[in-house]
Amino acid sequence: MNADLLITHAAQVLTLASPTGPKRGAEMSDLGLIPDGALAIQGETLAAVGPTEEIAAHYQAPTVIDANGKVVLPGFVDPHTHALFAGDRAGEFEMRLQGATYMEIMQAGGGIQSTVNATRTASWESLLRETHARLEDMLAHGTTTAEVKTGYALELEGELRMLRAILALDRDHHQPLDLVPTFLGAHAVPRAYLDNPKAYVEQVVEEMLPAAAALWAKETVGEGRPAPLFCDVFCEQGAFDLDQSQRVLEKARSLGMGLKIHVDEFASLGGAALAVELGAASADHLVCTPEEELLALARSDTIAVSLPGTPFGLGDPHYSPARPLIEAGGALALATDLNPGTCYCPSMPFIIALACRAMHLSPAEAIAASTINAAHAIGWGQRTGSLEVGKQADVLVLDLPDYRHLAYRFGINPVEIVVKRGQVAVAR
Ligand code: NIG
Ligand code: FE
Repeated sequence: MNADLLITHAAQVLTLASPTGPKRGAEMSDLGLIPDGALAIQGETLAAVGPTEEIAAHYQAPTVIDANGKVVLPGFVDPHTHALFAGDRAGEFEMRLQGATYMEIMQAGGGIQSTVNATRTASWESLLRETHARLEDMLAHGTTTAEVKTGYALELEGELRMLRAILALDRDHHQPLDLVPTFLGAHAVPRAYLDNPKAYVEQVVEEMLPAAAALWAKETVGEGRPAPLFCDVFCEQGAFDLDQSQRVLEKARSLGMGLKIHVDEFASLGGAALAVELGAASADHLVCTPEEELLALARSDTIAVSLPGTPFGLGDPHYSPARPLIEAGGALALATDLNPGTCYCPSMPFIIALACRAMHLSPAEAIAASTINAAHAIGWGQRTGSLEVGKQADVLVLDLPDYRHLAYRFGINPVEIVVKRGQVAVAR
């Protein structure tokens, strides 16, 4: 049979096959490994996966990549980023090194508010240019699908502009990543509302969410996207309390949006339980989650998204309790949280290496958390995140002899080739 592209003789093809949904508990250790494996790609789609002997006997193609001795796996899915922003916060990083905390800086008018000022005033062109460069970095490190949040405008027109910018970058043919947008109008209480946060929540609920849902419906009609527009809230002391978070998410749900929630990054307000109660797609951060809530999350369909780059970026020794979650049968995903405040890191390979050390994941679990489970955290699990026939051909060739090296080595970029929707997007 004819194919467009073959990848053959990989030392290991990691299929991450999981046809029934995310990998839970002990399933996260099963990578679906095929020794001396191969793939056949037709157009944007995976046509066949199996031992090289079988694939080479049945398929021919004008382009053949010999992955001799290397590891082939699905493109990484980064399910939590704030990649769209202007400016940087290197000055705050230095203040933190001298002892100021993230929340102190935020309460003094810096932090998220400082990126809000830079993003509101950036021109459309410079906002897209700066973000495009970060997306290129992500792609070079093997990310082929990424969630991107709004949340650095905190007023109606600016938040809608951010949503349009994410859609524009998604459609930009110069960078092939699939971008999955999340509306995060409730990222921080803007300065003008500090003595009346309720009024800001009302504005998010009554004006911003309906406008975002309408923009989404108009802009994406007929595109056949696998997931709705998501809505997220920063449920945290100093940001939005549990009631405010619930109000925002319930309104979003009534508008047909998918739900995500930043919980337990610094203080536990009950947000993980709220995520389960509302049937959220994911609950993210989960650093100081009480055991009871963690177990409820493990038993639910809500994906637990851990962001170890954030405590690392803050120099904080506390990481998500991943072991009890996995041991209770939970589905864990990993993400970078790429943002200018806590974690300016585009690299999923670094996050994998870190998660193994700081959260005690095995290399296999960390890979499952960065591919198939991450895809499910953003509603793209039927489309990408594993090498299964009929799925999008989002494929990496790593210059590594064995998948464990992906976690074992760090500070290098192991990605040699990125194939996105069947096209070679990076070849180094
Ligand atoms: O996930 N916690 C809220 N949002 C980001 C930080 C954003 C920022 O500091 O700009 C986070 O860590
Ligand atoms: Fe975040």
